[in-house]
Amino acid sequence: MKPFILRDLVDDRPMDGVFRVNRALFRDPALFELEMKHVFEGGWVFVGLSTQAERPHDYFTGFIGRVPIIVSRNGDNTLQCFVNACPHKGVRLVRKLCGNARRHTCPYHGWTFDSAGANRNIKWQKSGCYSEAFDAENHDLAAVARFGEYRGFLFASLNADVPSLEDHLGEARKLLDLLADKSPDGLELVPGRVCFTYEANWKMQLENCADQYHFTSTHPSYIRILEQRASEETREVVRSSIGAADFWQETAQGVSGGTMTFDHGHVLNWGVMPVSSANADFERAEQLARAFGEARRNWMFNMRNLTVFPNMQIAENASSQLRVIRPLAPDLTEMQTWCIAPRNESAEARTFRIRQYEDFFNPTGMATPDDTVCYEEAQLGMAEQERPWLQGHARGLMASVEGGNSYADMIDLKPVRSVVADAQLCDESLFAGYYRAWATRMAEVLA
Ligand code: FES
Ligand SMILES: [Fe+2]
Repeated sequence: MKPFILRDLVDDRPMDGVFRVNRALFRDPALFELEMKHVFEGGWVFVGLSTQAERPHDYFTGFIGRVPIIVSRNGDNTLQCFVNACPHKGVRLVRKLCGNARRHTCPYHGWTFDSAGANRNIKWQKSGCYSEAFDAENHDLAAVARFGEYRGFLFASLNADVPSLEDHLGEARKLLDLLADKSPDGLELVPGRVCFTYEANWKMQLENCADQYHFTSTHPSYIRILEQRASEETREVVRSSIGAADFWQETAQGVSGGTMTFDHGHVLNWGVMPVSSANADFERAEQLARAFGEARRNWMFNMRNLTVFPNMQIAENASSQLRVIRPLAPDLTEMQTWCIAPRNESAEARTFRIRQYEDFFNPTGMATPDDTVCYEEAQLGMAEQERPWLQGHARGLMASVEGGNSYADMIDLKPVRSVVADAQLCDESLFAGYYRAWATRMAEVLA
């Protein structure tokens, strides 16, 4: 018997103007198991950047859902992705986060594998009295079913029966292009990964990245500091911070930004920001306009918070951050974050990018702790049973239109739905994009 009924979890009735999500999605352990299997282990997830393993025999490790993986560049310079588990008794083969090694030796009984995942040695095999059947078995590391790259972004799937990576990313590719095109040399992660956990469901982070509504009420201290810096007229001197006003630009038509949803659960929340020295990319502003046209260049400077469902987010506002979401339990989530940057920017631009980054992001910044505390407080409220439906997905519903708008047209973006907003609309209807993708992945196991 199927344990859950989908319409009791996601109440999606566009004709009635209703989109609601049940609190059970954030707290139920059985549902969490199902979403690990069918969302995280059942389709494409982001695993890293190709520049994290750049030279032959470089590798980095991670997880697809609950399954440990290793991404390794072999001696022929090809990137591969394997399950990071020894075929002997399942021990995780490589424990380091990254490194360079031609051989990996299992810490338990010493089986050895090369950087192409091939088994090179079974300790004392000759004297092991193995059967012919054992000798005939494949002792290599298991390759993940699907592995692909788009502009240096690496994705993998444990399930072979998925659309091509190109189809999965769809229109989100154009948004990755905006980032990748900032430098002819591509992107890199600034050294210094941050890893932290919060005691709440992974979907709190999924939503927050695209949540414009919370900004002024959750981050008043950050906003006040920006205002104070601007009033002290130190900004140009120390060049240490964007101004509060940079977040709330409006076009002559009163548009401050908007939202877009794409197939497969990818979502964009964007805001008008000027092409100004408050952005670390300013040194290349003219070059970018020449290479890609003014419209694309201007979009590169807009605030853009992109989610590639289900586990990757790129926030480009005060600085540029890559986030990877790893659910650990219904009420526990691990976040890995990096400053992501165009390669070979000037030392001054890189310094500025990092200073901005420190201001806003990470548990030591002025914004992230505000958010994670709210996630944890929200998780407490997920225990409510009386009124199971959350009311956080209706704002903007009547402003949401099918397809794109003139801002999307500027860069040939074709969203499934979009909203154009003034400073206070703060659309929440875009979250339906996440839950419709979630429901599609879970449909097989939900009644
Ligand atoms: S578990 Fe790896 S060699 Fe035994
Ligand atoms: Fe926030």
